[in-house]
Amino acid sequence: MTLNTIRALVALLPCLALAGCVMPPKPYKKPASAVESAPVKTGAFWWGTSTASFQNEDRGVAPDSPFYFKTDWDIFAEEGHIPPRGDEATFSWTHFDKDLAALKQLGVNHYRFGIEWGRVEPQPGVFNEAAIRQYIAMARKLKAAGIEPVVTLWHFTFPAWLYDSKKKSQSGFLNPEVESHWKEYVTRIVKALSPYVKVWVPQNEPNGALYIGYFGGHWPPGLLATPGSLKKATNVSVAMFREASGIIKNQNPKAIVMGIYSLPNWTRAFGQDPTRAVYNMMQHQNFDHLDRVADTIDLIGVNYYYSQVASARRFIIRPTGEKSSAYTQNGWLIDPEGLHAVLVTVSKRYGKPMVISENGIGTQSEQKKIRYFREHVNQMRRAMEDGADLRGYFPWTLTDNYEWAEGYAANFGLTSFNKKDMKLTLEPAGRWFRNFIRANPEP
Ligand code: BGC
Repeated sequence: MTLNTIRALVALLPCLALAGCVMPPKPYKKPASAVESAPVKTGAFWWGTSTASFQNEDRGVAPDSPFYFKTDWDIFAEEGHIPPRGDEATFSWTHFDKDLAALKQLGVNHYRFGIEWGRVEPQPGVFNEAAIRQYIAMARKLKAAGIEPVVTLWHFTFPAWLYDSKKKSQSGFLNPEVESHWKEYVTRIVKALSPYVKVWVPQNEPNGALYIGYFGGHWPPGLLATPGSLKKATNVSVAMFREASGIIKNQNPKAIVMGIYSLPNWTRAFGQDPTRAVYNMMQHQNFDHLDRVADTIDLIGVNYYYSQVASARRFIIRPTGEKSSAYTQNGWLIDPEGLHAVLVTVSKRYGKPMVISENGIGTQSEQKKIRYFREHVNQMRRAMEDGADLRGYFPWTLTDNYEWAEGYAANFGLTSFNKKDMKLTLEPAGRWFRNFIRANPEP
């Protein structure tokens, strides 16, 4: 156990006591000010897939261009904390058409991609209009192909200018300027893309990113064992989320806002968490942020990958390795029934329609991947029979990409990418998904 881990474990105690997170979360209560709205209409079942700007887009801007940009993740990698992403990723910026061709082959009716904030605003207040036009073109091409674009405004990355290696406690969500810049960025993007984009995601998994980056130390800004920062960053992220929901609805009252959360199925083991304190804390991680924005969203996006025993050590030390057939390359325990449990819990807690916005497995075995999807779709069906209102299913992800602190070490893709001819080819799991959705327009 490293010194940092010990520090983090010690710091858990005051955090638990101060934040009240040793107690189970209270039931969700809609704020009195919440506007009553009719349940959202989403039409035919959404079969989709997703990517993220930083995981897929190549840089596509020369270092001497006034629009050259970096993100906080680039700098964090340069500091040696995580593997670098490099300038290429999966070439989804300069070669988006190869992604589009693969999406058409898959036959999906929805596709989620992200906007890279640093790309469109490479310097504070300086906007790259050509980049915004390119995002518009992507949305239009998708629509022309009968694929509804779903746009994420923040998927873990901030422009590098909101990150300061020497002042981590003033970086990202803790940067004093972040809220005003976010307002301007979101206003511009929503205005520009609204004619073509109806479905918006203000932030992807803010709950997970906040815990990992502002308390666990693994992601930017790399704050470790800092309960005060976690609390403050959460407040700012919530305010930014609510601001974005308002901007989206003001622009188009018929727009659909989806809040996407990382929702593992936490389980209990007496020996590792005798007082249930960690289990309760993990429930807070799942629900606290969502509780504070749920009244502003139409759909809850459930990102589900695995079950995990709640233990302080497990929270600090990230699991790794496909130890046996029961695990994924990321060291996650495969548990399809956990998806059912999460869907039923979320459905009861919020009574809102849901989309499985991410579900997938990092593995080199296509057979294991197909089995994973099949079993999870079956559990989704079971949850629907039990009353959960499911509107869509998005396997993660279109093609193997940059898996954050794990670098390029995880193979989640439905397709393989050949850099020589710049083409994506459906892998067996992709062909399975294509055939499955052809045969099952509704699940
Ligand atoms: C994220 C993705 C990530 C996936 C697999 C989710 O946490 O939204 O960006 O690649 O899980 O780890």
